[in-house]
Amino acid sequence: GDEPVVLGIETSCDETGVGIVRGETMVANAVASSVEEHARYGGVVPEVASRAHLEAMVPTVTQALHDAGMSFSDIDAISVTAGPGLAGALLVGSAAAKAYALALGVPLYGVNHLASHVAVDIVEHGALPEPTLALLVSGGHSSILQVNDITADIAALGATIDDAAGEAFDKVARLLGLGFPGGPQIDRISHEGDPAAIKFPRGLTGPRDAVFDFSFSGLKTAVARWVEARQRAGEPVPVADVAASFQEAVVDVLTAKTIKACKESGVDNLQIGGGVAANTRLRAMAQRRCDDAGVTLRMPRAGLCTDNGAMVAALGVEMVKRGVEPSSLDLSANSAM
Ligand code: KG4
Ligand code: ZN
Repeated sequence: GDEPVVLGIETSCDETGVGIVRGETMVANAVASSVEEHARYGGVVPEVASRAHLEAMVPTVTQALHDAGMSFSDIDAISVTAGPGLAGALLVGSAAAKAYALALGVPLYGVNHLASHVAVDIVEHGALPEPTLALLVSGGHSSILQVNDITADIAALGATIDDAAGEAFDKVARLLGLGFPGGPQIDRISHEGDPAAIKFPRGLTGPRDAVFDFSFSGLKTAVARWVEARQRAGEPVPVADVAASFQEAVVDVLTAKTIKACKESGVDNLQIGGGVAANTRLRAMAQRRCDDAGVTLRMPRAGLCTDNGAMVAALGVEMVKRGVEPSSLDLSANSAM
């Protein structure tokens, strides 16, 4: 066919993801995760992640081709996460991608991880409207982006000045004894709690605060202090209420600021992506507030919000379609991209 087929490789953190996208159709999305190995440390250990990527790389590529019912000769291009992310982890992915591109004689595209989180929605809902605003919320980032061209022109309107949203979820889950990664645990237990039980602070929402920046470390500290006071008083900690109230504070700030950004920029398309976009409360509140504001909201299904290879492949397809110059084989991983 004339639709480009791209194999995308993602290794920026703890998931080894290999996806294959043909045009706007996801035909494979194989993921091997080392999350279990990190769980006992309470966070991602870079050295453990790099080693796991190395072990999982070839089997995950094989799995993706098998799932797609394809062979290497069907692949028109390779795309790979060039950054941002863990340096050693990124290097494993880019080394593999270069080797495949060279061996197959196909172009190589190094892509931005954040842009990939936005691009994945193309396999869900078709061509991305441009410009669109994107709320990117993950373990490493919390940003409001204006996407004018997904391959070439993305401007940050705001970002976190301290912890990322996912990081806050993970830290609060840890102090509540809920395990790692914390986001899904807090999401789950919050359904049994009262989101209005405790009024936690909404960071950077004062009249003089930077409008589109986020801050979550004060919230995390407030939760820690609240829990400690309970424990000191010898009283039980209502874990579900604390989780639900914390989650409500995060989701309230994320959605309010993002809708405000839509209004001020005059862009009425919004896309939400990144691991925290899997959060059920965020999805519900964002939908309601977008409906009220006349903003068209697009969110990939929860399973495509966390790191995966299809998102990298989806962005690779856009690169091919728009005639972007491929990367050279001396493409280097850039952890701080
Ligand atoms: O995008 P992602 O898979 O990796 C990064 O690029 O960081 O995001 C991982 C983050 C973790 O902090 C995890 O706790 C969070 O996304 N997360 C969630 C949920 N699922 C994953 N946070 C809140 N609610 C969820 N359901
Ligand atoms: Zn991510």
